[in-house]
Amino acid sequence: MKVIRSVICATGSYLPQKIVTNDDLALRVDTSDEWITQRSGIRKRHMVGEGETTTDLAIHAARAALASGAIDPATIDGIIVATTTPDQVFPSVAVKVQAALGCPPKMAFDIQAVCAGFVYALSTASHFIAASQAKRILVIGAESMSSLLDWNDRTTCVLFGDGAGAVVLEAADGNGDINDRGILSTHLYADGNFASILQTNAHDKIEMQGKDVFKYAVNHMAAIVDEVLQKNNITSDQIDWLIPHQANSRIIQATAEKLNMSMERVVMTVADHANTSAASIPLALDHAARAGKLKPGQLILFEALGAGLSWGALLVRY
Ligand code: ACO
Repeated sequence: MKVIRSVICATGSYLPQKIVTNDDLALRVDTSDEWITQRSGIRKRHMVGEGETTTDLAIHAARAALASGAIDPATIDGIIVATTTPDQVFPSVAVKVQAALGCPPKMAFDIQAVCAGFVYALSTASHFIAASQAKRILVIGAESMSSLLDWNDRTTCVLFGDGAGAVVLEAADGNGDINDRGILSTHLYADGNFASILQTNAHDKIEMQGKDVFKYAVNHMAAIVDEVLQKNNITSDQIDWLIPHQANSRIIQATAEKLNMSMERVVMTVADHANTSAASIPLALDHAARAGKLKPGQLILFEALGAGLSWGALLVRY
């Protein structure tokens, strides 16, 4: 059966210049490099400088993606930005990116699904392409999570960082089977009954019941990877790369164990980037692509869970 697939034809990313190490944090709050590394795998993170915004990060990442694929901004049919930290309530980051890049006045909007934002955005874009409503969509995950940190709460302020990643999705003909290049299946969930375990408070700062989030992340990721395998009638040894949301190395290891995957097949950037929410997957993807790890035709599994709770996964042939 002929279908329209969405192929990842370019990637890009951007990290702000300022690097904050665990030792830097230990000067500010009662913590240590040893504690942060052991509990989360994080060693450092990038943070926006004075006046630098989520839109700035998104524009840098988008430019890098367009340059890597030699793509003319005039050919972009739509822009979807996954972010929880837009510079303003409105207008969206997406419209500002559109104007900065000189893209035509086609659709542009933001999606807010926190750490699951990028899998939500990529899924949404692929459905627009499958419905022939767009041919080339720029999908960006961009966050300034540092703006949401409570520097009196050592249990959360050590876990997050800022950055952005972008991909260009392009329509391509497929046969409707597992051998097609492009997005092969999308799996999205949310359960608002757990909204209060990870949320912002009255001062717009993160508050989190870390142990509960950890437990649900491990359980939901285990269940969703099973669902992806079953839906596509494949076994985990057919997956070349796991590119998970980068929140905590222990959550990632638990998912890899569930899949029986060795850590050599898991893209890990959490040590250097920390949790950049919706930006973490496209950042990891771009870093793996630029390191020459990803080869056309390889099978990649993306998965993420975050506040909401919201979670999801995608199976993609690169
Ligand atoms: N430095 C030093 N000590 C700390 C720190 C810190 N930064 N933070 C907490 N502690 C102390 C606690 O006060 C506690 O002390 P106590 O035993 O004297 O009471 C001790 O360390 C242990 O704290 P726990 O909360 O039990 O530590 P835990 O092993 O659960 O690790 C963590 C905490 C890292 C937050 C973990 O629960 C986790 O990763 N949860 C997932 C959260 C997450 O990733 N959220 C991101 C958003 S959602 C997502 O992206 C999946």
